[in-house]
Amino acid sequence: MIKKIERASRLEGKVALPGDKSITHRAIILNSIAAGDATLSNYLPGADCLSTINCLRALGAAIEELPSSPPGLMVHGAGTRGLKEPVNVLDAGNSGTTIRLLTGLLAAQPFFSVITGDDSLRSRPMGRVIQPLRLMGAQVWGRGSDSLAPLAIKGQPLKGITYSLPVASAQLKSALLLAGLFAQGSTTLTEPALSRDHTERQLRAMGARIRQEGKHIVLKPLSSPLKALDVNIPGDLSAGAYWLVAGAIHPKAKIVILNCGVNPTRTGILDALTAMGGKIRLLNQRTEGGEPVADIQVESSELAGTELRGEIIPRIIDEIPVLAVAACCARGKTVIRDAAELRVKESDRIATTSAELRKMGARIEELPDGMIIHGGQPLKGAAVESHGDHRLAMSLAVAALVAEGKTTVRDAGAVSISYPAFWQHLEALTGHRRGASPL
Ligand code: S3P
Repeated sequence: MIKKIERASRLEGKVALPGDKSITHRAIILNSIAAGDATLSNYLPGADCLSTINCLRALGAAIEELPSSPPGLMVHGAGTRGLKEPVNVLDAGNSGTTIRLLTGLLAAQPFFSVITGDDSLRSRPMGRVIQPLRLMGAQVWGRGSDSLAPLAIKGQPLKGITYSLPVASAQLKSALLLAGLFAQGSTTLTEPALSRDHTERQLRAMGARIRQEGKHIVLKPLSSPLKALDVNIPGDLSAGAYWLVAGAIHPKAKIVILNCGVNPTRTGILDALTAMGGKIRLLNQRTEGGEPVADIQVESSELAGTELRGEIIPRIIDEIPVLAVAACCARGKTVIRDAAELRVKESDRIATTSAELRKMGARIEELPDGMIIHGGQPLKGAAVESHGDHRLAMSLAVAALVAEGKTTVRDAGAVSISYPAFWQHLEALTGHRRGASPL
């Protein structure tokens, strides 16, 4: 799909965000191994989460879509009888969270399974999961000397380990916690920097014995199945990030994103934009289902360049492409470092973000672990492409809203991975379609 986008004359409205992708994956997986039934409301029906649902169905969990708005799911957990051997290869599609979390879970189940994904996922590193799982006694093999999917997993009794993660990755941490639930003895993990902690929060709420102090986690194995947990899934701040940046860089903008998760392990985008001079206000702050939630208002802002490195990086890891757009529109220089992980996302996001924004007139230098963005060059419409990467497609659309002239985004359908209603919401905010209510 090719999408044409013109510069917007104004951006105004309220947006009901899709459910958080990370929380949706975890609520499906953990409730599938729990005892009892759970209702998930406002789950994300994006392609990545549908991959997780299909894999869990193939493993014997019964998952029903509820005819509700926002979308709901009923998960009938397999906790007491256990998961079953899948009769075919499991397909994680484009989703790193699906393949990594399920590899941890499957390593401890008493059966054989194979899991794979699309071209992008089959090029992403899996050795980081396989190596510590092997230390736990797991039998997992992969292509490329056990570094790439497809992965073959022969479930084994596992033992807990004490392990320092080489990267701040919530996917890796969660894979090891899922394996640790079924291991003998405690699993003790230390992260180099704090990554998103949704797995820890849900596990605690479902009765697991888990203790977390900063970057250290100790998990004791399950003595009985997890308790099913109903979850009202908050809006995805990583989806809201596109509107936060669009609102900040557009000269005539006022946008409110509603019911948005503001878990501190995810709010780096708010810190970064505020440090750049973004006019952002948190309204109606509350806690729902163990996760902090707020409405967030953004208005047209005069942004200035900043430096983003170190501990903030895991807290903005998915928002860096759209922060690069903000940096293009900011006065002065923005330096992003310590973000080499971007090279192994759905695309090499340092290379693809730099290349596509340069086509729109941006001045960006690529670094091995980040970018230097020289802001203040007016963006101009261009023919750009998403490289099949949902976050790049949406970031380029945001850039197009302030660029002079017309932009075309090739492979724009990639947004369905995490934000199927993205193009409708964009049209509503620009006044080209009804759907997002005006302020
Ligand atoms: C995710 C963790 C992050 C993030 C991804 C979702 C998760 O990946 O980039 O979009 O749900 O755990 P890493 O944990 O590999 O950094």
